[in-house]
Amino acid sequence: MCGIVGYVGPVEDGTALEVVMEGLTRLEYRGYDSAGVALVAGDRVETRKRAGKLENLRRELDEHPLPVSRTGIGHTRWATHGGPTDTNAHPHRGGTDGKLALIHNGIIENFHALKSELIADNVAFASETDTEVVAHLLAAAYTTTPDLTEAMRAVVARLDGAFTLLAVHADQPGVVVGARRNSPLVVGLGDGENYLGSDVAAFIGHTRAALELAQDQIVTITPDTVTVVDFDGTPAQGKAYEVTWDAAAAEKGGYATFMEKEINDQPHAVRDTLFGRTDTDGRLTLDELRIPEEKLREIDRITIVACGTAAYAGMVAKYAIERWTRIPVEVSLAHEFRYCDPIVDEQTLVVSISQSGETMDTLMAVKHARELGALTISICNTHGSTIPRESDAVLYTHAGPEIAVASTKAFLAQITASYILGLYLAQLRGGTFADDVRAVLEELAEIPDKIQTVLDRMGRVKEIAGFMADSRAVLFLGRHVGFPVALEGALKLKELAYIHAEGFAAGELKHGPIALIEPGQPVFVVVPSPSSEHGLHGKIVSNIQEIRARGARTIVIAEDGDHDVVPFSDEVIRVPATAPLLAPLLTVVPLQVFALWLSTAKGLDVDQPRNLAKSVTVE
Ligand code: F6R
Repeated sequence: MCGIVGYVGPVEDGTALEVVMEGLTRLEYRGYDSAGVALVAGDRVETRKRAGKLENLRRELDEHPLPVSRTGIGHTRWATHGGPTDTNAHPHRGGTDGKLALIHNGIIENFHALKSELIADNVAFASETDTEVVAHLLAAAYTTTPDLTEAMRAVVARLDGAFTLLAVHADQPGVVVGARRNSPLVVGLGDGENYLGSDVAAFIGHTRAALELAQDQIVTITPDTVTVVDFDGTPAQGKAYEVTWDAAAAEKGGYATFMEKEINDQPHAVRDTLFGRTDTDGRLTLDELRIPEEKLREIDRITIVACGTAAYAGMVAKYAIERWTRIPVEVSLAHEFRYCDPIVDEQTLVVSISQSGETMDTLMAVKHARELGALTISICNTHGSTIPRESDAVLYTHAGPEIAVASTKAFLAQITASYILGLYLAQLRGGTFADDVRAVLEELAEIPDKIQTVLDRMGRVKEIAGFMADSRAVLFLGRHVGFPVALEGALKLKELAYIHAEGFAAGELKHGPIALIEPGQPVFVVVPSPSSEHGLHGKIVSNIQEIRARGARTIVIAEDGDHDVVPFSDEVIRVPATAPLLAPLLTVVPLQVFALWLSTAKGLDVDQPRNLAKSVTVE
């Protein structure tokens, strides 16, 4: 969601505006509806801000240029308190002397009480935001404690909620102060210049040396120093790390959209997520988990918490983990988890799945699980993000930066990482399946090439999407692991093409949804492998016949060599044969490609669909 950039450079250098604007451009992928910057200029802080995309801010900067400066902050806002207007855009000024400006990501939950207090003290508010309350509190604190770090410390003690705050003050011209609680903030370490950002994309064009901050910390950057203290003032040290994503990885790599690039990145995303997880004997080694094996052997229940696409990855993983470990697995939407009195204790493993590592619903579910005594493992794509830090252990997916708002490669990487975890638990616990772990790993190793084969065959899917641009509704059916794939196919279409779409478990059709079938209704059917157990394949072929008989237009995703589906299919999209549990890693790809090209055919913004944000950092 909101993107944050801070920069301080050498005295003779005046590039703060360029650096901040470049950072904001790289953070556009987070989703936003207004943007602004503040620079320290002489004895004032100058701000420019505009509703809408960065172009509007650039136009404003052309019309009303800012003076050269070495210190600046910038913000892309996704509206929560107060609509997306020029006035509500950040930065916000505190006090009346024009010397202080502040930006914020998150929500200040007690802002009403604080605002009433300030209004009683005759403070005038320009905006409807919770952020402006903090700006005024900070200005007031600075008058009694004229040191921005100390003033920030005094203010954060009064705030409830989640926040990243960055502030500048004209009386301390070479300083930016940041604070974080439950919202992201990372430090970029330069040579004679330093950076702050919501994530490393903010400064990736300048440095790969980064510093991870813990919860409830304040960081003060000058051109030559980075000082970290806890909210109680205790000196602290961030954790230094090297950013392995390069700037080019965050660009579109020759594709028209980030989403197209990311769909085509999927063989790499799966390969990189599998990479380095086995020892020379082919046994899984997850040293990075740093959880005693004994503890993992004691687990008697697993709950997966996640939202949206990540939750569908969890639903796929449930089938595999239960099969391999015989441990019961429940999948809970993270925003429901806390409120359903979950059955969780010391023997429960709670696995969170999150691309961003910042989804507030998932973060809160993890915190709740820990309060209940559960062991928590985060499956996450973003180093330095909050959810891994709040968990007992993390298993990183290695999908690389996912910029398009709609998740694609992270989904495949999440399934892969969950499977690795399931196989590892099976290996540890001995059971009847443990001996087969190696065979599954070998099949998994073939998946990246098979994804590439699917991608190479997508020409027909693009054509189908082209002539379905006027569809009013599309249905998706699947069974077993194909059911969450159907849900994901429907979600992609809703998000990207704004078409009503529903995913169903095919067996559920006859219990109601078949009433939706009328002549010409497009239905995608994700067909399990003919090698699936319990006659699953035959059952779905019957389902296809049932809807075809009622006039549905059937677009069937089936394994190479599956001829049974042909008589009942208007279109057959082929994927290579694989083990039934691994099939989602292939069958979801045509559905992603379909949504991409249907959105493109409708002339929509593929990378930033309306009303959506990449990281959902509010509950
Ligand atoms: C859909 C999508 C969302 C995310 C969800 C969780 O395309 O991207 O449904 O999957 O908001 O996000 P993360 O994985 O960052 O926790």
